[in-house]
Amino acid sequence: MTNRLRVAVIFGGQSGEHEVSLASARSVMEAMDEEKYEIIPVGITKDGRWLASGDPMDALASHVPEVSQPAALLGDPSRPGLFLLEDGQAGTRAAPFTDVEVVFPVLHGPLGEDGTVQGLLELADLPYVGAGVMASAVAMDKVVFKDVMRAHELPIVDHVMVKRRAWDTDPQDVITQIEGRFPYPVFTKPANLGSSVGITRCPDRTGLTVGLSEAGRHDRKLLVEPAVAQAREIEVSVLGNDEPRASLPGEIIPSREFYSYEAKYVDTGDAASSLHIPAPLSDKLTQRVRELALRVYKAVDCAGMARVDFLLSGETGVLYVNEMNTIPGFTDISMYPKLWEASGIPYPKLIDRLIELALERWRDSGRTNGRRREGGQGANSHQHRGGTL
Ligand SMILES: Nc1ncnc2c1ncn2[C@@H]1O[C@H](COP(=O)(O)OP(=O)(O)O)[C@@H](O)[C@H]1O
Ligand SMILES: [Mg+2]
Repeated sequence: MTNRLRVAVIFGGQSGEHEVSLASARSVMEAMDEEKYEIIPVGITKDGRWLASGDPMDALASHVPEVSQPAALLGDPSRPGLFLLEDGQAGTRAAPFTDVEVVFPVLHGPLGEDGTVQGLLELADLPYVGAGVMASAVAMDKVVFKDVMRAHELPIVDHVMVKRRAWDTDPQDVITQIEGRFPYPVFTKPANLGSSVGITRCPDRTGLTVGLSEAGRHDRKLLVEPAVAQAREIEVSVLGNDEPRASLPGEIIPSREFYSYEAKYVDTGDAASSLHIPAPLSDKLTQRVRELALRVYKAVDCAGMARVDFLLSGETGVLYVNEMNTIPGFTDISMYPKLWEASGIPYPKLIDRLIELALERWRDSGRTNGRRREGGQGANSHQHRGGTL
């Protein structure tokens, strides 16, 4: 058991998807092979405090922070690993807690999935699972993501970007602009979020007004797009670094008018949304959607994993790229791992592969000028571990 790889699993976080992250991380940790990995659970509270040692999962889930301890990871590779913090009269003292060899951020939404945590891990020179800073940030921002898709001639739903400031100062002008572009119904969304939080289907002008104000509570950048008629929700899992693979597609049948927060997380049992794996599509469409998923992944220069989501019009048959999630839901009933299971990679193997990909990418980054690790400390300690998986 001495040669186990020390993997810090980070969960919780400051986004509205905090609870979803806890559920994902529980599944990930349960599926990790204890012969291979020493799991170091790390929790981030809703107000951004880091907790390690003891039971950070319990601390977050039961709101009793005392069962864990304040912790920190420094963006300084010469001071590697996690530190435990203790507040005393002379200020806060940090004591080394444990070395970390790989990080698995299981954080959904802003301040976790958007490149911020990934930035800290880059500074710390730690290998981590999933996309890097740029791909994470691009995938999180629905407006920038669409711009990149358009540049690569990938099919997307048209949109109008609205700054919250414009909506606050001249709502009439914003409405005129939108009505000049799209017929109702339209969808309003905050640019940076997930889990359908802040998203509204607007059947008319009154709905648009409500929708933009709601989206404006979540972001300063908003978007409006025409509703895809009889939208079918098709999703593909992608795995890999420079040579990614696409899973079979799956389909979600939402329990509500669209795949809203309630349809995702509130409705349960017979009333819950259902997953169909593989999606009932023709062979031709199945192939097209898998190819598109890989093109999307490569266009954003993604790494590790992502779930690419599509909207397929049941009325016109037109397929649109909707969005890409770089840290998709990861419970054992979530689409991302389910699709891999159906495509030949069981959940525990998927985790092995993701950790392997994190190490591969980290080793590759060592070839880049300015990132030479000779003589450095910290992450050097796990350089020899490349072949352990
Ligand atoms: N243009 C659209 N036409 C039809 N349905 C849409 C459209 N945009 C979003 N939706 C619905 O809203 C859901 C959430 O939107 P999405 O862009 O995926 O945001 P999130 O990042 O919160 O998942 C989609 O899964 C779909 O059900
Ligand atoms: Mg979505």
